[in-house]
Amino acid sequence: MSPFLLTRTLPEDVTDAALRADVRQGLTRTPKTLPPKWFYDAHGSELFELITQLPEYYPTRAEREILLARSGEIAAATGARTLIELGSGSSDKTRHLIDALTALHTYVPVDVSESALTGAGRALLAERPGLDVHALIADFTAGLTLPDTPGPRLLAFLGGTIGNLPPAERAVFLASVRALLAPGDVLLLGTDLVKDERVLVRAYDDAAGVTAAFNKNVLAVVNRELGADFDAGAFDHVALWDAGQEWIEMRLRARRALTVKIPALDLAVDFTAGEELRTEVSAKFRQDGVRAELSAAELELTHWWTDDEGRFALSLSVAR
Ligand SMILES: C[S@@+](CC[C@H](N)C(=O)[O-])C[C@H]1O[C@@H](n2cnc3c(N)ncnc32)[C@H](O)[C@@H]1O
Repeated sequence: MSPFLLTRTLPEDVTDAALRADVRQGLTRTPKTLPPKWFYDAHGSELFELITQLPEYYPTRAEREILLARSGEIAAATGARTLIELGSGSSDKTRHLIDALTALHTYVPVDVSESALTGAGRALLAERPGLDVHALIADFTAGLTLPDTPGPRLLAFLGGTIGNLPPAERAVFLASVRALLAPGDVLLLGTDLVKDERVLVRAYDDAAGVTAAFNKNVLAVVNRELGADFDAGAFDHVALWDAGQEWIEMRLRARRALTVKIPALDLAVDFTAGEELRTEVSAKFRQDGVRAELSAAELELTHWWTDDEGRFALSLSVAR
């Protein structure tokens, strides 16, 4: 195998069809929604990297702290020869893990963002010349087929991205993850934890407005891909904590009544003044809940680590 392979399991036309279906369905229902995967074109992926460096956005730093402290233990517990990472983005924090996994043969980063995968692949090729990198452009919610690589497998899902799936979708997703693993293979899961509402809201509504720009980027994606005429300036970024669901919601609130035309769908979408479009949920977790959700997918939690301030958790669970 060549040291860097990029495979598109989502043909361009499937991506286009999925975007059309999501936009039509999401903008014709009440309340209006769009799935968060459409944030991540090249510009959205760059904005996310900027978010990870913001003083308010603690999850990346907290998860890195745990990885730095625990990668040796993770390597010893798994002996992984293949590391698969879903929603890998820049693979930046993953380098700590890659360095610790001394038996590692192949790294399989999976993401919808081609630009993130090629950027990460280029950097890894230069920094880890002995490693095979088989990158997959794929939607991790849409039935993944992984390349045939040596076991044992460690499947990492970092960044708290699992919180972007609401509970019912999470259960389906975790079952699909379990189906990718053989008994004894391991899932490494990053989960952001329930904490003070002010800390949570600030992490999704930073003073510099980077998260607001990231949120509005989904409108630019719909404009570019479907010829829509969203005016990003006519929407406010909103982040709020739903204490019942224990999740953060990001929304875009129309400043005034307006109609958006989406020619590729032959659709006109009316917004009333103050109407909100939900663009992301980000669930926050507790240990018991994570253990129960994993167990329902036949994954047995064996390790649970948090950063010193108890803001974020990494867990290991073994496929039964
Ligand atoms: C919150 S970012 C986390 C990035 C990185 N794992 C980290 O911890 O910093 C989510 C990543 O998942 C990717 N992503 C989101 N939805 C996806 C989907 N349905 N399928 C594949 N990748 C997805 C995005 O492109 C992005 O790189």
